[in-house]
This record gives sequence, structure tokens and C-alpha cells, in this order.
Amino acid sequence: MKKTILVTGGAGFIGTHTVVELRKAGYEAVVLDNLSNSSPKSLERVAELTGGDAIPFCRADIRDRNALEALFSQYEFDACIHFAGLKAVGESVAKPWEYYENNIAGTLVLLDVMRAHGCKNIIFSSSATVYGDPLQIPITEECPKGLCTNPYGWTKSMLEQILTDMQTADPEWNVVLLRYFNPIGAHPSGRIGENPNGIPNNLMPYITQVAIGKRECLGVFGDDYDTPDGTGVRDYIHVVDLAEGHVKALEAIDRHCGLAVYNLGTGHGYSVLEVVHAFEEANQVKIPYVIKPRRAGDIAQCYSDPSKAEHELGWKARYGILEMCRDSWNWQKKNPDGYGE
Ligand code: NAD
Ligand code: WQD
Repeated sequence: MKKTILVTGGAGFIGTHTVVELRKAGYEAVVLDNLSNSSPKSLERVAELTGGDAIPFCRADIRDRNALEALFSQYEFDACIHFAGLKAVGESVAKPWEYYENNIAGTLVLLDVMRAHGCKNIIFSSSATVYGDPLQIPITEECPKGLCTNPYGWTKSMLEQILTDMQTADPEWNVVLLRYFNPIGAHPSGRIGENPNGIPNNLMPYITQVAIGKRECLGVFGDDYDTPDGTGVRDYIHVVDLAEGHVKALEAIDRHCGLAVYNLGTGHGYSVLEVVHAFEEANQVKIPYVIKPRRAGDIAQCYSDPSKAEHELGWKARYGILEMCRDSWNWQKKNPDGYGE
């Protein structure tokens, strides 16, 4: 029998790509999303990419207990992949209460309804941001968590703690904490991808908007870091690789993993200027840039040691930086206004 997976936040950037991989792997994915940062069109595209059947979708908020109760009564979920959350770092500094309430209170409601219905398997979208300014590079999962520089990061760090404590108290839970590094790229079809509102905060969507002519010039935030060319170094990972990591994490849950923590990255660090040059090389498009002051809260470098996921999950990123740049641009070119809303 097909396993049924609840995907909260499944209409978003990583969620849509994950639903594609889940369906390819033979799972039934049911999406719950309040569409606060996504479009229902994204799920139509996912259906189209995966054989045409509509994606079972519930437009609801994870804080809405009644809606969750109704959904858990309708389906017998084997596990939940929990993407739903607010994720804009700068906005979280301006609106900390909204971030704590949405991300933490929402997850507490979700966990309570899950256990009431006997579904104690969860994969949680965490972030490399929980390492703060990392004590070691490359970062292994043993690297201690650090001081986050913004409320968004703290929601991830605190939710990791909450999930860990719940699993300790009740070992029937299987909890997989996936710490993503910097997801970019898009489905190679160009049908689904990242759809930021307003001025992009993140590097790759900013670059693609410069390439398409929506923004004049990229601001490079600092060229005086202690890195080979002075610009910040990150571990960019193709969103399709990331999505596949979730399918592997479901297999770990099948093996009753208890609490498990994995970095999902490539293990390679690229500087801002290296990404700009890779984008230019992959796509033959020029990206004008100017050096700007450092951005508050940024660190010099952050890249993973992803070997634990390889050994334990049998997962390894397949795509390189040129493919990430190619697919980000392919999506942007084919969808200059995202999903058009
Ligand atoms: P996204 O904004 O595209 O997707 C999140 C989805 O959650 C959106 O569709 C949004 O509408 C939905 N949502 C938000 N609050 C909700 C609520 N209260 N109830 C129901 N739905 C709600 O973001 P993404 O990039 O796909 O990120 C997915 C998850 O991965 C998030 O938890 C994010 O914090 C985490 N993450 C993202 C990155 C990244 O760089 N993209 C890195 C590390 C971790
Ligand atoms: C990457 C590099 C910038 C934009 C953020 C969150 C993190 C995680 C992933 C969710 C840095 C530089 C950027 C620009 C630039 N998200 N940059 N000009 O900051 O590593 O991580 O997204 O969990 O929590 O903090 O990603 O893409 O914003 O920046 O020079 O216009 O690009 O300074 O060195 P970051 P990013």
C-alpha cells in the first residue's frame, strides 16, 4: 500500500520539489499550506510534472487545530514532512513575535495533533543557521549549535530542541532534523522554482532578477572577509538534491531511526564572486555587481561536511554549481514573474 505523507508548506520552494520526488518514489503526498508565501499554481505544475493527478491540497494554517484535526481524520498519515514556516531573516528581526508565533506555536499545534492521531514520524526543515558562526569548517553535525543572529534562526534552533525533547520523552517518535545549507536551482523542467515576494533577500534569486533585467546590479555584501577573495563563502545545494534527501530520510524513519540529525549540503564552499562567475559561465549572461558594506549578521564562511548523510542515508548531492546556475536561470527565464501572482 502507498504510504501517505503530510507535507506542510508543500506549495513553497522546497516543498514543491519534494512533492515531485515523493510522487516519483511512489508516495502519496497530501499538502497543507496557507499560501502565505506561495501560489496554488505551483501545485498544478507539480501535478503536471508527475503524471497529471491533482495533488490533494488543504489550504489551512498549521496553527488551525480544527483544520489539522479534520485532515488527520480524513487521512492516515505515515509521516509528516514539515516545511511550513516563515523564513525571511530580515523580516524576522522586524517582526519577532510573528515569527515565533507562526513557526513555534504552529509547530506545537501540529505536533499535538500528530501524536493524538498516532502519527509520530516527522522530518523537520532545519537550517545551517543553527550553527551560528560555526566553530569548525567544514561543519559536521557534532559541531555545537551556536548563537543565532536573528529570530528566524532561533525558531529553527528552538524547534530542534523541542523535537529532541519530545523524542527523548517518548521514543515512539522518529524525528529527523535536516539542516539545509543554501538551496538554489530549480526543477530542470523550469516549471517549478523559487518565487520570492518583493526584493529578494537571497543571493541566487537576486542574481536571476539582475539577469532578467528586473534589478540593475547585484550588491555584493562585503569583500573583506577572511576568505580567498574576501566575499562570503556558502554551501549551495540544488533543490532537487535537497528534495531527494527527504525521500531518504523517510526510509530512515522506516528503520526506526529515533532522533537523527543530518546536514544536507554538497560539502563545497563557493564565494559570492565565484557564484556570479559560475552563473555567467553557465548561462552566458553578464551580471553587473558593486561591492557594498557587509550585511548585518552575515558570517564569513559556512559549508558542510555532508558525509553523515552519505553513510547513513545513502544520500549525496549530484548537481554541481554550474547546473544549479543553469536551472535557476532556466526557471527565471521561463517564468519572469514567478507563478504570475
Ligand atoms: P517557502 O516560503 O517557499 O515555503 C514555506 C511554505 O510554508 C510556504 O508555501 C508558506 O505559504 C507556508 N507557510 C508558512 N507559514 C505557514 C503556516 N502557518 N501554515 C501553513 N503554511 C504556512 O520556503 P522554502 O524555501 O520552501 O522553505 C521551506 C522550509 O525550509 C522552511 O521551514 C524554511 O525555514 C526551511 N529552510 C529554507 C531554507 C532556504 O534557504 N530556502 C534554508 C534552510 C531551511
Ligand atoms: C549568501 C551569500 C551574502 C544577497 C540565508 C539564511 C539562512 C538560510 C539560507 C533559511 C552571503 C551574499 C546575498 C545579495 C550578497 N535560510 N549576498 N548579495 O545568508 O547564507 O543564508 O539563506 O534557513 O538561514 O540566513 O544566504 O543567499 O542570503 O547569502 O552579496 O544580494 O551571498 O552576504 O555571503 P545566507 P544568502
